[in-house]
Amino acid sequence: MQIHSSIPELRTALPAGDRIAFVPTMGNLHAGHIALMTQARQHATRVVASIFVNRLQFGPNDDFDRYPRTLQADCEKLAAAGVDLLFAPSECELYPEPQQYHVDPPEIQHQLDGAFRPGHFRGVATVVLKLFNIVQPQVALFGKKDYQQLMVLRNMTRQMALPIEIVGGETVRAEDGLALSSRNAYLSPAERAEAPRLHRLLTEIRTAVRAGERNFVEIENAAASELDRHGWKTDYVAVRRQSDLQPPESGQDEPLVVLAASRLGKARLIDNVEIDASGGH
Ligand code: PAF
Repeated sequence: MQIHSSIPELRTALPAGDRIAFVPTMGNLHAGHIALMTQARQHATRVVASIFVNRLQFGPNDDFDRYPRTLQADCEKLAAAGVDLLFAPSECELYPEPQQYHVDPPEIQHQLDGAFRPGHFRGVATVVLKLFNIVQPQVALFGKKDYQQLMVLRNMTRQMALPIEIVGGETVRAEDGLALSSRNAYLSPAERAEAPRLHRLLTEIRTAVRAGERNFVEIENAAASELDRHGWKTDYVAVRRQSDLQPPESGQDEPLVVLAASRLGKARLIDNVEIDASGGH
């Protein structure tokens, strides 16, 4: 695997004429990332990954400084997964001057996760557009665990007429249901034992919706209270339409997704479960 940290070097190394699948990451790679690399291979002849902890998408009270940085181990995992090329720029390389031009996503950037992380999706969209301009892939893959991020980036790509296909990868889970995340490293052993409750509650909501439950506010509040009773501090539990992440209209049978974010100790965990229009998944 080739590793490049400079934009000109990367541009020279990018294979001309090959179809490139790109997987942007912030490193500290786990099986969820590796599944995206494997999926990427099905879409292209060359797989390019990036590792960059993007300051622009972290708020002042977020975990930018303590976000786990494990470049050496990540390189080994990427090489073993058959990734062709890694772009791992320094902050000076990607932001040699203060970034004054930004991608400003629409109202959705202030809802759900955006309501608790002001500026987050603006920072994500800005760095991803910049990475797309550098790597110029034909396909890019993002995990469905960050469901709102996937929607924001899909819409940005479409509206900016970027010639890139956006592909979502299924969430990879531990055996007890906990979605794999770099932030799981912040959990103490007791918190790790408690953490699967989040996914359990989301699947219970899916079961209730499949059975015909339509009082979404009640089930959202009940799930949030249940988490908080067990020591979590819940930001939101929300049943939304898959298409635009807006609240469902009554009487409409449309694909839904239940999303949640809650803090357990030092970790802020997010997760979601899709519910298709006929109630299954
Ligand atoms: O999902 C992530 O790891 C990041 O938000 C991304 C897409 C790499 C942008 O920094």
